[in-house]
Amino acid sequence: MTQPPPVRRSTERLDSDPAGIARAAELLREGRLVALPTETVYGLAADATSGSAVAGIYAAKERPSFNPLIAHLPDLAAARRHGLFDANALALARAFWPGPLTLVVPVSAGCAVSDLARAGLGSVALRVPSHPIAHAILQAAGRPIAAPSANRSGRVSATSAAHVLADLDGRIDAMLDGGATEVGVESTIVACLNGAPRLLRPGGVPRSAIEGVIGRSLVLAGEAGMAPISPGLLASHYAPAARIRLEAEAPRPGEAWLGFGSDPALQASAAPALDLSPGGDLTEAAANLFGHLRALDALGPAVIAIAPIPEHGLGEAINDRLRRAAAPR
Ligand code: TXA
Ligand code: MG
Repeated sequence: MTQPPPVRRSTERLDSDPAGIARAAELLREGRLVALPTETVYGLAADATSGSAVAGIYAAKERPSFNPLIAHLPDLAAARRHGLFDANALALARAFWPGPLTLVVPVSAGCAVSDLARAGLGSVALRVPSHPIAHAILQAAGRPIAAPSANRSGRVSATSAAHVLADLDGRIDAMLDGGATEVGVESTIVACLNGAPRLLRPGGVPRSAIEGVIGRSLVLAGEAGMAPISPGLLASHYAPAARIRLEAEAPRPGEAWLGFGSDPALQASAAPALDLSPGGDLTEAAANLFGHLRALDALGPAVIAIAPIPEHGLGEAINDRLRRAAAPR
């Protein structure tokens, strides 16, 4: 499943100004790899219509190539050229786009997203991000842009330019620095294929908000595109080097501690220690999740103990990522 090492290249640094946006779009049209900010996490972008550009993503990430990618578009009208939207898909797109929602829908007759980006499936994952820089680049590129999270495969997603460079410097053509991402966890993925919508991945739009729009409850179906992977590989997708201990009441001696609304005395009892949200706010916790995991992991502890996180709202996405980080590998 591992790929040959990616080609070494020097990674251009682009600013979040009109020149940087124009350069990013130009590179994408040439089939090159550009890391760019979205409101969820940084994406490693390439022309979704070009099989060779998409192959470059898999090589840079060392990602198993049967895992399909999300195609990003500037608006719903552009998205509808590539996928077929039923009534539920349309209602969800109108309610949450632009924003942290991905819809998996059947491909349209004119779908230009390459087979490789779709991993050969008859469906396509489409997303209209709300980040102004991502939107401007998509508009200028004028084609669907494939973008998985801008991290090496198996590492936690990148929520800042520094995280992107730690994983991908020298492996991609450019990186546009748009500061820290706002949401911090990836988009919610909902499949509208035939019949009832299914939740494929909890994410930046809480389940309850989706259920409010479609008027029924969603079943968590598991990421369909990842089905061919062995359960172990699938589960350990978001893996720090440290072992993760979930639902911890307190740190044990020698453990690093990641709190959530934790008592200051408890926070002080471990070194190193960070708190996802001292005030117990799940939105703030999602934004801090991957950055805090990376920061603690970089200090090389054997174990990171993590406080319980409530399962409602964005807590479902946070707990999903934490369970994957904790899965045996
Ligand atoms: O927030 C996000 O969604 C970020 C930003 C960069 O947009 N992107 C992201 O992409 O998280 P990635 O590649 O890390 O996750 C895409 C997920 C994969 O788990 C894949 O299995 C699923 O989308 N997927 C893509 N196409 C699919 C399809 N046709 N059917 C089922 N699942 C699909
Ligand atoms: Mg990812």
